[in-house]
Amino acid sequence: MSATFPHVLLDALRTTRHLVVFTGAGVSAESGIPTFRDALSGLWERFDPAQLATPEAFAEDPTLVWGWYEWRRMKVLAAQPNLAHHAIAELETCVPRLTLVTQNVDDLHERAGSTEVIHLHGSLHQPRCVACSMPHGTLSSAPGEPEEGRRLEPPRCLHCGERVRPGVVWFGEMLPESALQAAFAAAQDCDCLLSIGTSGVVQPAAMIPQLAAESGAVVAHVNPQPVSVHGPREFSLEGPAGVVLPALLDAAFQ
Ligand code: OAD
Repeated sequence: MSATFPHVLLDALRTTRHLVVFTGAGVSAESGIPTFRDALSGLWERFDPAQLATPEAFAEDPTLVWGWYEWRRMKVLAAQPNLAHHAIAELETCVPRLTLVTQNVDDLHERAGSTEVIHLHGSLHQPRCVACSMPHGTLSSAPGEPEEGRRLEPPRCLHCGERVRPGVVWFGEMLPESALQAAFAAAQDCDCLLSIGTSGVVQPAAMIPQLAAESGAVVAHVNPQPVSVHGPREFSLEGPAGVVLPALLDAAFQ
């Protein structure tokens, strides 16, 4: 199996001082969580982000937006981490330092055993007040029947009575500053970065692999679609993350 992976990458993994793992929706695809931009199945192929994923959309139609995020949260509650999430959690035990940065709003990395996860785009599980930002901790965590298209009234903030909003970053909003800074710092410090299951089109997160490459790190992209690479220290590993990552761990560490 090791023959299928570049030696530069295997050596980088075996000798890394600081590994960054950067994930997108594709890492959760094999858990049954839809990505955003895959043809046919991607969420943004079927739904209009302008109606669902902006502050203006929530102000205009809160029951539509809250219902859509509750549908997505229910799907995540009913899902299980897959082999890719587990391989990433196992990687923590193979290298001296690992920083896991995700664009995903699910908690499947945590449930697979990853200990510290930088969530650049927030979390479905951390709703907060639209006005005073007070976290709202009382959403049901029992996986219900996911109902697509069902409108739901958002809960009210226990502190100020305003509406509670999903804890995700919407289009037109800033990313959480400390998360972004930690992710950029890790990208510039690491000597190896694995970019897994992302289309790399949403900024500023998409800069992370490039920052690592510019700082001299070996960079590998894991994706069923070929990813264009620049230079002899960047690689495209074609295949589903749940297949490629366990094989990569075997090749590098067994
Ligand atoms: P995308 O949907 O844009 O890209 C998902 C990527 O995963 C694609 O390149 C797929 O080819 C790949 N993929 C599909 N199945 C895979 C598998 N089994 N293993 C590995 N890769 C697979 O999702 P993101 O890049 O995460 O933002 O999208 C970035 C951001 O855009 C999201 O965080 C979200 C969205 O709007 C916010 O919610 C703020």
